[in-house]
Amino acid sequence: MADIHIEAAKKNIEQKGFLDIEIDVNLDLFSEIERLKKEKNAIILAHYYQEPDIQDVADFIGDSLGLAQQAEKTKADIIVFAGVHFMAETAKILNPHKKVLLPDLKAGCSLADSAPAQLFKQFRDKHPDHIVISYINCTAEIKALSDIICTSSNAQKIIESLPPEQKIIFAPDKNLGAYLKKKTGRDMVLWNGACIVHEIFSLEKITRLKIRHPKAKVIAHPECEEPVLRVADFIGSTTSLLKYSMQDDAQEYIVATETGILHQMQKESPHKTFIPAPPENMCACNDCPYMKLNTLEKLYLCMEYEEPQIIMDENLRAAALKPIQRMLEISHRYGL
Ligand code: 13P
Ligand code: SF4
Repeated sequence: MADIHIEAAKKNIEQKGFLDIEIDVNLDLFSEIERLKKEKNAIILAHYYQEPDIQDVADFIGDSLGLAQQAEKTKADIIVFAGVHFMAETAKILNPHKKVLLPDLKAGCSLADSAPAQLFKQFRDKHPDHIVISYINCTAEIKALSDIICTSSNAQKIIESLPPEQKIIFAPDKNLGAYLKKKTGRDMVLWNGACIVHEIFSLEKITRLKIRHPKAKVIAHPECEEPVLRVADFIGSTTSLLKYSMQDDAQEYIVATETGILHQMQKESPHKTFIPAPPENMCACNDCPYMKLNTLEKLYLCMEYEEPQIIMDENLRAAALKPIQRMLEISHRYGL
């Protein structure tokens, strides 16, 4: 590690989850990050919910499936994951010999937190004849207890690839699970977890917005609650929402997902208007507080010092790899 003492840096990361080192305000972080990418053969993978500056320096921006697929095929020595912990962990599971960095280790996820491994194991053991399909938004421990991983981009295809009589547990997102039950007609047992961001949208405020913008289409992520999905003109994963906004001919959209995606929507269709769906209260709760823990400064520091990094137990990694590989194989088969 360059000019700070390794032990002090490790302590700093243990306490705060990120490196807390003063950065010269005159430093051009964009060109510094580009320099570090080349010097270290590093790739930056960023989720659409990251702040605009991070999206602009990333080598690849995507949804959870796209990011896992990029992580699987990258030739870089270092993967810098601008996203949340379960995403960086997935990249590490796929790349045990590469360094995987996460700018802030405390970038968690309410969905992942909603499924503690011990309780989930008891739940699974009560349904021994069920296959476990887990949404990728879960810990490595939950992945290791699952048969197949899915994302919002491939969940329907994965469920439909199983014989109709196959009993299924779907975890941890009850909203996505309920949406998929309706879409596929399959009677799945659902774990009771949810995303704090996608549960916050106010149907009442969306209805009022629609009155003021009668031509606006409502587009929503399937992690939203059923009443919001009912008024949506289009439902899809983050990437599908972006593609829809590019291909559809409406001029205005009310977007019911995390606000970070509006950056790419606006970049791709500068002549269109994108209105974030309003939350229940006046806070910025449609910003994911975990995703937004990553900043350009933390991204720069983690690349400079190659910390904090994802470290995993090898047995856990090997067990969590199998259901991820099954997901990637099925996605490949369907051209997803
Ligand atoms: P996707 O990336 O699959 O659209 O999921 C959204 C999300 O909430 C990621 O944390
Ligand atoms: Fe988790 Fe929701 Fe944030 Fe995605 S948006 S990381 S599901 S809390």
